[in-house]
Amino acid sequence: MAHPKTARIVRGTARQLAALAAALRRGEIVGVPTETVYGLAANALDAVACRKIFRAKGRPTTDPLIVHLPSAHDLAGVAVPNAAAYRLAAAFWPGPLTIVLPKRAVVPDIVSAGLPSVAVRVPAHPLFRRLLRLAEVPLAAPSANPFGYVSPTAAEHVRAGLGQKVRVILDGGPCAVGLESTIVDLRDPAKPRLLRPGAVTRAQLERVLGVKVGAPPRRPSARTAQLAPGMLTRHYSPRTPVVLHARLTPTLVRRGATDEAWLFLMKPRGLAAKTVHGLAPRGDLRGAARRLFGVLRTLDTAGYKRIHAELVPGDGLAAAINDRLRRAAAR
Ligand code: TXA
Ligand code: MG
Repeated sequence: MAHPKTARIVRGTARQLAALAAALRRGEIVGVPTETVYGLAANALDAVACRKIFRAKGRPTTDPLIVHLPSAHDLAGVAVPNAAAYRLAAAFWPGPLTIVLPKRAVVPDIVSAGLPSVAVRVPAHPLFRRLLRLAEVPLAAPSANPFGYVSPTAAEHVRAGLGQKVRVILDGGPCAVGLESTIVDLRDPAKPRLLRPGAVTRAQLERVLGVKVGAPPRRPSARTAQLAPGMLTRHYSPRTPVVLHARLTPTLVRRGATDEAWLFLMKPRGLAAKTVHGLAPRGDLRGAARRLFGVLRTLDTAGYKRIHAELVPGDGLAAAINDRLRRAAAR
């Protein structure tokens, strides 16, 4: 072959979905839309298929995958649920919440990176849900980006990063949430712990569970590395260095160089420079979360020497946005 083939993007007609479900059952990998970010999916019960995910992403096998189910009724098939898990499921599924529970033996070790636990989520994206039902197997799917790069929030992002590694990408439009799911460790329901902040906030989890939810591990140690695998290394990073600021001001921008980008939550009026960007016109956090990864990708390919970004005030969704900004800035 003269040119390596690049992935086909399909819109998900009934025939296409049936073909994708069959491909997944045969052990192939497929790019899929979710409401959080695009995923790279394989049959979660097929170790050989799941190994293809790690190979395509260049992901170390120490970093476990999230298992996606069509419904909370399927939870006990892959994990050992407790009452707290069912309470969270009733409140937030389908949706951007992943729950870590003890694993059943049917889930191969490659999926959990050898851990006795498994991370499980029921996604909300209607197209992905249809595919999950047609596939009739749980689907393991990490974000569909080369390991360490910014997560994809559009089918084109998946093709840009993994177009040579995957045959088909199901296009479900731009992701409605735009940040990876919240991950909560519920192995001990008396001591839940947030492992990754996301659109479902710690306060929301605490309200439903009626107990405090522990904070995510801050400075990863050998112990927390085991607790929150995959959180150790730098993640979600553009190639362009990112510099964080508690607050960006027009003065900072005017003093800056012309080959530096400035990423505000809200682009200030009166700053017309092409290097100035805003995440959300009216400063709404949902809009900012939805646009964050796409904007980082755009700025990353625009040839800037540095990207200056403003941390977002507040907790909840702001904490999730800041978490991704900090990871993007980590070296
Ligand atoms: O929104 C999402 O969660 C997306 C979509 C595709 O569902 N998936 C996603 O997967 O973001 P990703 O690439 O972040 O990888 C899954 C992460 C791992 O890096 C790890 O931090 C955590 O989930 N994880 C998976 N299994 C775990 C386990 N048994 N214990 C603790 N953390 C686990
Ligand atoms: Mg990821």
